[in-house]
Order: sequence, then structure tokens, then C-alpha cells
Amino acid sequence: MSSPDGSVLGIGMIGYAFMGAAHSHAWRNAARVFDLPLDVRMAVLCGRNREAAAAAAAQLGWESVETDWKAVVERDDVHLVDICTPGSSHGEIATAALTAGKHVLCEKPLANTVAEARSMAEVARAARASGVRSMVGFNYRRVPAVTFARQLVADGRVGEIRHVRAQYLQDWIVDPEFPLVWRLKADEAGSGALGDIGAHIVDLTQYVTGQRITGVNAVLETFVRERPLPGASAGLSASGGSGEKGEVTVDDAALFLGRLDGGAVATYEATRFATGRKNSIRVEVNGSAGSIAFDLERLNELEFLDGTEDAATQGFRRILVTEPTHPYLAAWWPPGHTLGWAETFTHEVKDLVEAVGAGQDPAPSFEDGLQVQLVLDAVQRSAADRGCWTEVEAL
Ligand SMILES: NC(=O)c1ccc[n+]([C@@H]2O[C@H](COP(=O)([O-])OP(=O)(O)OC[C@H]3O[C@@H](n4cnc5c(N)ncnc54)[C@H](O)[C@@H]3O)[C@@H](O)[C@H]2O)c1
Repeated sequence: MSSPDGSVLGIGMIGYAFMGAAHSHAWRNAARVFDLPLDVRMAVLCGRNREAAAAAAAQLGWESVETDWKAVVERDDVHLVDICTPGSSHGEIATAALTAGKHVLCEKPLANTVAEARSMAEVARAARASGVRSMVGFNYRRVPAVTFARQLVADGRVGEIRHVRAQYLQDWIVDPEFPLVWRLKADEAGSGALGDIGAHIVDLTQYVTGQRITGVNAVLETFVRERPLPGASAGLSASGGSGEKGEVTVDDAALFLGRLDGGAVATYEATRFATGRKNSIRVEVNGSAGSIAFDLERLNELEFLDGTEDAATQGFRRILVTEPTHPYLAAWWPPGHTLGWAETFTHEVKDLVEAVGAGQDPAPSFEDGLQVQLVLDAVQRSAADRGCWTEVEAL
């Protein structure tokens, strides 16, 4: 839970590559920016190669190293386990940690299958009864402009929502010689663009609108079906290895139409083949009284159109979301001194530590993670059934 005197929150982080580095940045900085109720200690980083893990721990600011995640879960100085590994290990690690009474931050998507996600949500529910907290890492909720968009929608500023339009576009595997990294294998990643980046826009749009997706018509496509087996580096900028090839077992692109439970209709596009688009998230919401639009490449801004204004002077206004009255901003810099992508994780950690300190459940919960998994599952079932209308199983 926390240290015996209740003042220290010791963190054990599993995996230290891309997300591990981003989370380390957040654990290092959250208490320097925000007034947190607990003293965060970066107790231990876990990686399977001791030498490499020790080098990473020194660079990222962790006090010690373990090479087996089970040892992290068992340590008395670890009160919260931060899971930054591929989806295939989320279930086992989160279940062990929660059962051992450790709070858990688990990267998205919560799991690779609905069955795993359901089991994790059940374990989390049981742990909650003894004050053990859990949260899924849908960090894009914590872009101040996105959080602010949700507030505008909740305040009725766009009225009744009719359209939701969401895209998450990347291009890192356009080259057919890009190697077969874990993200391209179903047994490790669950799905491809769908779970990796589609999951983010499912969560983001449901968060902003306060509505949930009830059914979908979907198309999945895998453009490059075989790729060279990877060399030593297997991250987003990996290089090819021996020349031998293996099968790509996930989607390269996921497109779907959806209906939301508040009456809106939605379009979603998630792809790693949008040549020239590096990490582009765009979301637009059109309602009876106004519209909002967000673009991650301009993440300090939110476009807002107030449809109740005089038509002659009506138009999208660009709100610079850096005022102290905007979400998260009071603790940062003077207005106009903008934030970046890394701060989404700082905000995630801030919200999580505040919830743990207050004895409350953070959001998004493992149930929220399961609900996103049910949407992903409906997308896969629809695509396998020639795009037929497919209901999302209710929680
Ligand atoms: N929130 C986001 O924006 C975002 C972005 C990228 C990835 N992710 C998610 O974060 C997770 C990790 O992705 P990544 O990009 O950091 O992957 P990565 O390949 O960069 O890093 C994964 C790390 O996990 C380690 N690992 C794997 N199995 C392990 C085990 N059993 N014990 C210890 N370490 C182990 C690997 O060695 C590696 O260090 C995935 O669930 C992914 O979907 C989230």
C-alpha cells in the first residue's frame, strides 16, 4: 500500500525501454511539479539482462535493479508496480502484484484478449476491497486540451453529440523490410494497429464524450504479411537481422464505424501505414450546439466552435490551453509556456499518486480497460465477418 508510516510510495517498474523511459521521466518529475500526498521513491527497475538494466537504472534514476519481475512484486519497499512490458505479460504481472497487495499501473491495452482483461478486472475489483488501487495507462486523457475538451462537452458546450471522428496515424512500418518486432506478432501484442493505437482513440473519444461504443462495422488489413526477423534492437526504430522472414500475425490498419450509447455515430482509423504521419492523433466532435477538434501535433491547443454565437462572426477559435484555470496547468509555467507529450505521463502519475494517497480509485480503471478490450474484440469479430454490424458486449 505505502510504507508502514504511510508517507512513502515505493515504485517497482517492469520493462525499461520506450514506455519505461517515459514513465521514469514522470516518476522523476511529478513530485517536483505537483504537491503530491506521498513521497515517491523510484525503488527498483526490472529488466532481464542485469548489466543493461543497471545501466538503464543509472540513467533513468532508479535506486536498484532486479532481473525477475516476481522479485519486484515480493519486495517490501515496493508499494506500486508499474508494468511497461508487452501485453502478453500484463495479466500475469498485474495479477501477482495486486494479489500481493501492491497498487498497479498497467500500460495499455490492458491485455491481449477479453478473457485476460476480464480476469484482471476481477482481481482488481477484489484488491480494491482491501484498498489496493489499479489504473490503465491511457495517457492521452491527460493532455490538458483533451481533459478540457471533456469539461466543455460535460458543460453542454457542444450540445447533443452527433459525430465523433477519430484518427491515430503512424508510418513506422511502411518499409516492407522493417523487421518482425513484437508489435507485429499476435501472441505478444494481441492485435496490431488496433490494440496498439486504436485502443488509445477508443478510450480518448469515450472519455471526451462520456459515451461508450455499443457496436461496430470494421475492416482490418495487413499490407505486408512477411517481414525479416529482427536483430538485437526491437523497438519502434528496429533494424533487420539475419535475412530470414517470419509471418506478420496482426493487422497493419484498423478502420471502423461505431455507434455510441448517447446517440452519436463515429468513425475510427488506426494505421501504421499513413506515410508521413508519425504519431498523429486527431479527434473531432460535432454536436447540436458546437464542435471541438484536437490534434496531438498541436497539443497545447483546442479548437472550439460555439454554434450558439451569431453566424456572421461564428468560427472555430483556437484556444491556447495554457491558462492556470485549465486542467493541470496551475502547477506549470506562466500562460503560453507550452507543454509536451511527456507530460501526459507526469499527469498520469500525479493523478495516480493522489488517488492512492486519498484512498480513492484512479481512472481509467481495469474495468475501463476491459471495456476498451471488448470494443477491440468486437472490431476483430466484425472484420472477420466481412464487416457485419457487431455489438460490443456489455460489461
Ligand atoms: N501509453 C502510450 O502512449 C504507449 C506507447 C507505447 C507503448 N505503450 C504500451 O507499453 C507497453 C510496452 O511498450 P513499449 O513500447 O515500451 O515496448 P518496448 O519494446 O520498447 O519495451 C518493452 C520492455 O519490456 C521488457 N520486457 C518484456 N518482457 C519482460 C519481462 N518478462 N520481464 C522484464 N522485462 C520484460 C523488454 O525487455 C523491454 O525493455 C505495451 O503494452 C504498449 O502497448 C503505450
